[in-house]
Amino acid sequence: MAIKSSFVLAALALLPFVSAQQSVYSQCGGIGWTGGTTCVAGTTCTVLNSYYYQCLPSSSTTSKSSTTTSSHPTTSSPPPTTTPTTTASSTSSAPSSTVTGYVKTSGQKFTLNGADYVVAGTNAYWLAQQTDADIDTAFADIAAAGLTTVRTWGFNDVTTAQTYGAYYQLWTNGTATFNTGAYGISRFDSVVAKAKAHGLRLIVALTNNWSDYGGMDVYVSQLNSGGTHDTFYTNAKIIAAYENYISEFVGRYVNEPGIMAWELANEPRCSGSTGSASSACDTTGSTIATWAKTISTYIKSIDPNHLVAIGDEGWFQEANPPTYPYAPGVGINFVTNLAISTLDFGTFHSYPESWGQSANESAWGVQWIIDHASAQKSANKPVLLEEFGVTTNQTGIYTQWWNTVISSGLTGDLIWQAGSQLTNGASPNDGYAVYPTGTVYPIMESAAAALKVRG
Ligand SMILES: *[C@@H]1O[C@H](CO)[C@@H](O)[C@H](O)[C@H]1NC(C)=O
Ligand SMILES: *[C@@H]1O[C@H](CO)[C@@H](O)[C@H](O)[C@H]1NC(C)=O
Ligand SMILES: *[C@@H]1O[C@H](CO)[C@@H](O)[C@H](O)[C@H]1NC(C)=O
Ligand SMILES: *[C@@H]1O[C@H](CO)[C@@H](O)[C@H](O)[C@H]1NC(C)=O
Repeated sequence: MAIKSSFVLAALALLPFVSAQQSVYSQCGGIGWTGGTTCVAGTTCTVLNSYYYQCLPSSSTTSKSSTTTSSHPTTSSPPPTTTPTTTASSTSSAPSSTVTGYVKTSGQKFTLNGADYVVAGTNAYWLAQQTDADIDTAFADIAAAGLTTVRTWGFNDVTTAQTYGAYYQLWTNGTATFNTGAYGISRFDSVVAKAKAHGLRLIVALTNNWSDYGGMDVYVSQLNSGGTHDTFYTNAKIIAAYENYISEFVGRYVNEPGIMAWELANEPRCSGSTGSASSACDTTGSTIATWAKTISTYIKSIDPNHLVAIGDEGWFQEANPPTYPYAPGVGINFVTNLAISTLDFGTFHSYPESWGQSANESAWGVQWIIDHASAQKSANKPVLLEEFGVTTNQTGIYTQWWNTVISSGLTGDLIWQAGSQLTNGASPNDGYAVYPTGTVYPIMESAAAALKVRG
């Protein structure tokens, strides 16, 4: 259960920062790169994409876990100087963790230690912003409902340091500093430790399309001032900075069984809310697909243990779309993305009220689930309905959708979003939160039980 961080920090201190040769996992070439191109002994300069060549261990069997936090020379984020708090050892009186091993895939199923792993889950993006006691309360409620998996945010980019909650990068004049202080990554250590204490696993998104908690737009404004939202996917400095963040965040949890999967971004799209995208971003999907290949390859290079997915809304690109989400022109092609070899499973969301389907939301959502289950079968990879929400007739519509998840063979689902009564009142409610005393909760419990029976 112990986080490997102190070991990682010790290894980091030994890295040759002032060296003519690039250290393991450092950049060693690519368009616009002006730094060193020679890798230290035992590593090979490997082309990950035209913008990013990286020094990777020469032997594919080399253990990567001990050096994963090495910093990239393209960002000047200093090495962590604070010893992270050992939250894992102070975890409450919850029963000792049974969370061991890594979730893998087998065809359209997830597996764990040789058995099926059923994703009956929920979102709770706000966990890391809470106190330890409130994180415990939230996970206790979720575990009591019989859920197995929780999706949450592994990002918060700020431009002013804060003394509450959690943030992981502080940006100043185009330089990101990874936060190892009291309101930094140790808070996420707590989320992981407490999830495990309740027998739960996490799906962790590493940035956000939306500007909540910073997200892509902070990288763009800091590193490509004046650039459009979609330059997040193509600007070499931004890609390097995002990979540097991933090396810190993902690198910390390489050997952590409490993590089920990493996600490249929450709901990536080319465009802003006006619907207009920069003309450089392919609205039918190739720009974000290329980016997804780059970033997922990078994650796999530093973390061979965990699954990787995009975290997108699952838009189709059909020639004769019956409704808008079947060819919305926002830059995602679910079917072609699902074929990317470094992505282990597919994700889709369902918000018919936001997508022009209010008049027909239940039936529209049923078909949306069936169509993604069909893409799942064609690709022979797991697919998750990983966010869904309506604000009217929730019990009726969710019952129908959960029944469809089970009957269609869809791998699993995560509702948006679980709520709990915390110390200072109810957890954040955007209109979709479901609380243990509400009417949706018991249906969610039955649906989780039924999905486990189906497998
Ligand atoms: C950021 O840049 C501005 C303008 O160049 C400068 O005045 C300021 O001192 C810089 N801040 C830091 C923390 O480097
Ligand atoms: C994506 O991000 C842009 C910029 O923050 C925002 O305007 C847009 O609404 C977002 N779209 C979605 C749903 O991902
Ligand atoms: C509602 O959606 C379903 C599934 O897409 C479709 O078959 C049906 O025709 C739609 N009904 C209306 C009234 O739009
Ligand atoms: C709620 O949704 C269910 C499932 O689609 C439907 O059968 C029922 O008529 C709906 N109830 C209302 C009040 O719209």
